[in-house]
Amino acid sequence: MKIKNICCIGAGYVGGPTMAVIAQKNPDIKVTVVDINAARIAAWNDENLEKLPIYEPGLDKVVAEARGRNLFFTTEVDAAIEAADMIFISVNTPTKTYGQGKGMAADLKFIELCARQIARVAKTDKIVVEKSTLPVRTAQAIKSILHNTGNGVQFQILSNPEFLAEGTAVQDLMAPDRVLIGGEQTKEGLEAIQALVNVYSTWVPAENILTTNLWSSELSKLTANAFLAQRVSSINALSELCEVTGADVNEVAIAIGKDSRIGPKFLKASVGFGGSCFQKDILNLVYIAKSYGLHEVADYWEQVIIMNDYQKRRFASKIIQTLYNTISGKKIAFLGWAFKKDTNDTRESAAIYVADQLMEEQASIVVYDPKVTAQQMQSDLNYLNTRSEDSNSHYLTTVSDPHEACKDAHAIAVLTEWDEFKTYDWQKTYDAMKKPAFVFDGRGILDKEELETIGFQVYAIGK
Ligand code: UDX
Ligand code: UDX
Repeated sequence: MKIKNICCIGAGYVGGPTMAVIAQKNPDIKVTVVDINAARIAAWNDENLEKLPIYEPGLDKVVAEARGRNLFFTTEVDAAIEAADMIFISVNTPTKTYGQGKGMAADLKFIELCARQIARVAKTDKIVVEKSTLPVRTAQAIKSILHNTGNGVQFQILSNPEFLAEGTAVQDLMAPDRVLIGGEQTKEGLEAIQALVNVYSTWVPAENILTTNLWSSELSKLTANAFLAQRVSSINALSELCEVTGADVNEVAIAIGKDSRIGPKFLKASVGFGGSCFQKDILNLVYIAKSYGLHEVADYWEQVIIMNDYQKRRFASKIIQTLYNTISGKKIAFLGWAFKKDTNDTRESAAIYVADQLMEEQASIVVYDPKVTAQQMQSDLNYLNTRSEDSNSHYLTTVSDPHEACKDAHAIAVLTEWDEFKTYDWQKTYDAMKKPAFVFDGRGILDKEELETIGFQVYAIGK
């Protein structure tokens, strides 16, 4: 079967870039990305490519090439569903904030709404592709909704989890380590799998496209994120041991990473992992394990989150202790707010939690981040509900000049590993600060010895 018309529901960090690349690589397929958020769609359609709703290096070029040719962004959801022969569901699946599974299970309300909408609108056979990360066996629920509420048309359900990382999304999409496609192992299921394989085959080598049954594909996505997050928590756990024993976590990471069985990636100690996926997906895995009565399995994975929360608290506590246990009224400059470099995404960023803890001590925080807006920072803090919105904007302000953030500060905390921080004029920064001038490097990106020569008192994670 040859796919001619694709619809993707959800124009977010996953749906937007993924569809842009599929459209760029398949000029003969019409790709329509829909979203209920009209402002987001307007931003995707903005003439000025700097105003795309998400920042990803290289994305502007891909959008410029395909948009208006075979890539379209619209809020006309029904029309796009009706016209499509393949529909990707790429809506968000946040952790539930209410009811059974609160704080752990994935909230599938948007997924179900999508399934019901597809069932209502579809008048011809469709392949429905789960792009969102979902609990294992969700395809069963989607299938049941489609078949029981549809207009008698045939649906095939595929699982095609996305492994792109933010900040490198375009590069990851252009040359993925693998594309994973799960589907029913029936004649129709295998045909649907092949239809999606054909879409990716225009640019991904055949040996990098894996096909499996539905449940393996769904579970592999959760497992991949759990393993990656576990590595970060493992090295972060060791970072504290390094600090008390005189070992250097970077040296340990290099030493173990040379072992080809361990490998060098994802061994960078940090103030804690953030992002929309790691915590949500592990909590979800823990919840699934518990719901099958596998308590030891659940406890094992939950420890990854416990360690990560501890690492964020430990970093904030270190700042408080070092500044003589009193930071009330002291200016603390934050360099970085995004959960990692090269993205404007702040979801679950460690910076939010560190700021919150310091604000409880009435510190005055001034943040500089090259891509995150002041409005976004306030909204991240307000979401925590720790204090009033007025209080949040009183204790935390945002500036667009890093030097202004650091001027007259008692301390600087590096929360995101933006490259530009490495090349600042640190002597000039030192001269403008209150003394003693402290630097807390939560990302291990600055040259500790060089800063100490200038006169800074430096704390770097794992050293
Ligand atoms: C989301 C999920 O968080 C993740 O689990 C999954 O792997 C991929 O999809 P992301 O793209 O980062 O990741 O989410 P987000 O940026 O929030 O985008 C989702 C979009 O879906 C939003 O723009 C939202 O407006 C839209 N949406 C949501 C709909 O169009 N319809 C809905 O019913 C719900
Ligand atoms: C992750 C997965 O990598 C990706 O495959 C999946 O599709 C979505 O979730 P993402 O969250 O975008 O991607 O970024 P990632 O690069 O994995 O980083 C996650 C967090 O871990 C960031 O806060 C990052 O700073 C932190 N991290 C990562 C470390 O602290 N140390 C490391 O060595 C690596």
